[in-house]
Amino acid sequence: MAPKTVPVILLGLGHVNRGWLQILKNHAQAIATDPGFRFSIVAVADSSGIASHHDGYDPDELIALKKNKRSVRELKGFLPGVPSSEIARHAQASLMIESSPGNIHTGQPGLDAARLALQKGMDVVFANKAPLIFAYDELHALASNNGRKIKFSATVCGGLPVVNVIQRDLRLARIQSVRGIFNATTNFILRELENGGDMDAAVKEAQRIGAAEADPSHDIDGHDSANKLFIVMKAAGLFKGSISDIQVSGIRNLRADQLSLSTNEGKKLKLVAEAVIDPEGNWRLTVGPKEVEATSFLGTCDGWEMGIEIESDLYEKVYLKNYEAEPTGTSAAVMRDVLHTVTIDNDW
Ligand SMILES: NC(=O)c1ccc[n+]([C@@H]2O[C@H](COP(=O)([O-])OP(=O)(O)OC[C@H]3O[C@@H](n4cnc5c(N)ncnc54)[C@H](OP(=O)(O)O)[C@@H]3O)[C@@H](O)[C@H]2O)c1
Repeated sequence: MAPKTVPVILLGLGHVNRGWLQILKNHAQAIATDPGFRFSIVAVADSSGIASHHDGYDPDELIALKKNKRSVRELKGFLPGVPSSEIARHAQASLMIESSPGNIHTGQPGLDAARLALQKGMDVVFANKAPLIFAYDELHALASNNGRKIKFSATVCGGLPVVNVIQRDLRLARIQSVRGIFNATTNFILRELENGGDMDAAVKEAQRIGAAEADPSHDIDGHDSANKLFIVMKAAGLFKGSISDIQVSGIRNLRADQLSLSTNEGKKLKLVAEAVIDPEGNWRLTVGPKEVEATSFLGTCDGWEMGIEIESDLYEKVYLKNYEAEPTGTSAAVMRDVLHTVTIDNDW
């Protein structure tokens, strides 16, 4: 049987969506055979604007375009002056992959782009956390009202299947606590400090490798970890609060001697994201530096590793951990969500 064509919009052509295109290219034959789909990229957006063409864009052309530091404005079908949040109005697609930069102050442009895509009857797969932080419940309601799906497993710890495990594999379990190391950049910086480095040098090294932003505050001050904890707890259906209800402190003021002191006592200082139930039965979510046993699961999450420990009545403790220094795992997580979206009719 001929593979079914799925028209797709790509919001953003950065590391994540280029990685997705590369996976698509490398696995096109397998995807066409089983589950039997062919993806046609009918519209794309980058910082220069959007382009849309019903014939679709060749993945190789898009990868080469960005590799050569060129932009969407040079593509056939470029639509001058149209903001990327409007892209769903200009393409006949059934799916949008939202991997635009996460504006933590507004959620835009991904938030409006996703709202419009859902209203237009498209499913949306997110790598970008920001729209979910601003409008998790609204986007889910919009998807449900329009009979569409939202998937976002790539937003938490890249390729680590945290969200999917919580939503699917721990079904019926009563979750009692969640603890995680959700930010590899800060975990790397902490290891550098442990080895006697200072904060500035560790941050510079993370920036040199390309892991930390020019302004690394979002990671260092704990907000990236808080955003991931928020998404995990919303996905588990346990947290009714907003992001500002999470108590957050980061690692900015930690010094190497504090880390070596912990190490000498058989402990490790880690940036731990934690959700526990208080005596009144309410969930309390925090992010901050915390001493853990060096030999514990979180204590052994080292450098570029991220991990999560989920305690529940049915499954006792489930531990998940990955090593991810490159964005490929995130692109693969987007692909698994895309394949899940197009192949499974009944949602988890
Ligand atoms: N990289 C990872 O490992 C990872 C992991 C988990 C989640 N994420 C999230 O995934 C998203 C994408 O990450 P990335 O690493 O691919 O980022 P990136 O490499 O910086 O790429 C961002 C892309 O978005 C484009 N863009 C900029 N402004 C835009 C706008 N107004 N409308 C549409 N597109 C716009 C950029 O255009 P230009 O090409 O013109 O600059 C670029 O193509 C982010 O939200 C990030 O937080 C990333």
